Amino acid sequence: MKLAPSILSADFARLLEDVKKVEKAGCEYLHIDVMDGHFVPNITIGPAVVKSLRKDVNMVFDTHLMIEDPDKYIADFVDAGSDVITVHQETCIHLHRTIQNIKSHGVKAGVSLNPATPIETIKHVLADVDMVLLMSVNPGFGGQSFIPFVLDKVRELRKTIDEMGLDVDIEVDGGVKSSNIKEVVDAGANIIVAGSAIFGNGDVDVAVEALRERLK
Ligand code: DX5
Ligand code: ZN
Repeated sequence: MKLAPSILSADFARLLEDVKKVEKAGCEYLHIDVMDGHFVPNITIGPAVVKSLRKDVNMVFDTHLMIEDPDKYIADFVDAGSDVITVHQETCIHLHRTIQNIKSHGVKAGVSLNPATPIETIKHVLADVDMVLLMSVNPGFGGQSFIPFVLDKVRELRKTIDEMGLDVDIEVDGGVKSSNIKEVVDAGANIIVAGSAIFGNGDVDVAVEALRERLK
């Protein structure tokens, strides 16, 4: 299991400082939430911030594009230093083409589903992606509550991936805390995003340890 702290809940005025804390704590992925105010009702950061962080951070940059027309920006995020680029199924009219576009830049490709979007909608591209990101909140904000029915989606997706004999990561994003991380991992997720649970209050090391502790 890999932890992917979401910088959405970090202090943007002390972003590098906060990111260094999770890197030091041994977190492998850095989850970067990109929002455009159209696909989701919030606006965050763009490639310039990714590029600045890249100079000082060695973590895997896991870039979650919650934006309309993602094809327009894929090259910019690759140039900025993204390692994984995830687009939403709901924003891609030609999903297969967009996935090929991401891969043509030599980075890993992910596809994400909102809670209400069925697994069936990505079945035909599963063999083409490196990761599926299942949203366990409606995207747009940190600190929301985990939507329980997503656990069934995680189990269904794990089963489908195994039956197809594929090696695809399942990342779960939204509302994961020490109280529910075990259920999410037991359901079949192997990359866990945590924003408010890690940056929300006080000591980052204590928060990371509390999440890991539950999986022992
Ligand atoms: C929500 C974002 C998430 C969010 C997770 O739209 O995609 O990555 O930051 O935050 P928590 O862990 O607080 O739900
Ligand atoms: Zn996210």
